[in-house]
Amino acid sequence: MLHFSVDTKLCVSCGLCAADCLPKVIQMAGRYPTIPNEEHCMRCLHCLAVCPTGAISILGHSPAQSEPLENRLPTPEQVAALMKGRRSVRAYKQENVNPALLRRVLDVAAHAPTGVNARRLWVTVIDDSASMNAFRQEVYERLEKLTRENRMPENPRRQFFSRAPELWRKGQNPIFRHAPHCLLVSNAKDAPCQEQDSLIYLSYFELMAQSGGLGTVWCGLLYWCLRLVLPELLPRLGIPATHELGYAMLFGSPAVRYQRTVERGKADIHRLRWPAR
Ligand SMILES: Cc1cc2nc3c(=O)[nH]c(=O)nc-3n(C[C@H](O)[C@H](O)[C@H](O)COP(=O)(O)O)c2cc1C
Repeated sequence: MLHFSVDTKLCVSCGLCAADCLPKVIQMAGRYPTIPNEEHCMRCLHCLAVCPTGAISILGHSPAQSEPLENRLPTPEQVAALMKGRRSVRAYKQENVNPALLRRVLDVAAHAPTGVNARRLWVTVIDDSASMNAFRQEVYERLEKLTRENRMPENPRRQFFSRAPELWRKGQNPIFRHAPHCLLVSNAKDAPCQEQDSLIYLSYFELMAQSGGLGTVWCGLLYWCLRLVLPELLPRLGIPATHELGYAMLFGSPAVRYQRTVERGKADIHRLRWPAR
């Protein structure tokens, strides 16, 4: 049930909700919008968002719970500073991040789009540095054992994963970068945009986290380690058998501060005119 309801005292019959409804389930047959057949609703909530008078509620969401957007968006300069100033952080304070800040970042990141609005992501967070230390230690010890017993599986990063425990014993942390936390995002195996959704989610998470003063780094090495070498850890990480690990990100309070952007010059773009010769 969608629980689509229209406040007829507010509705001005403008039809914007019906016009913006991608699967065209909203109809303006009479004076007010209706949904005669709920089956193909994408649950995108565009109808609630687009209504100029806040007349529409759906799926338990009402305009009163929404934030108005007028005069609320950051300026293009602010967005550019965030995007250009975002860096991969590889030095962290050894402390837990503020749980309220992390909660806010996760709640905002959950607004990332998913293909066909499937919203099937499974987000696993290690938000406690003691757990992260124990997890990190177990990963390196398992890699060490595989190397010692000559059982490291064949994979394109075999050499790195064989060498990583030795570096860790010397106080380096080539996989985890001493980050106190990590995020593992997986997506349902049958989600329409299986690979893309996790990456988009993490891009949202990263920008929101860095806007709140947190440091982040994408962690291909942890992703490959779990996918190629230690997949037996995935169920213990709570990743459902129905899901595929999409990617990993490390984060925490940064122990490094970047003072300026680096300007990469004009973007190299291939501009196309059609018909092409
Ligand atoms: C998909 C992806 C995977 C990455 N994996 C790692 C990683 O495993 N370890 C690491 O230290 N940095 C990793 N990085 C960070 C890149 O090295 C970094 O983005 C690049 O050097 C540019 O630096 P910047 O992010 O500060 O602009 C990864 C970045 C991306 C986008």
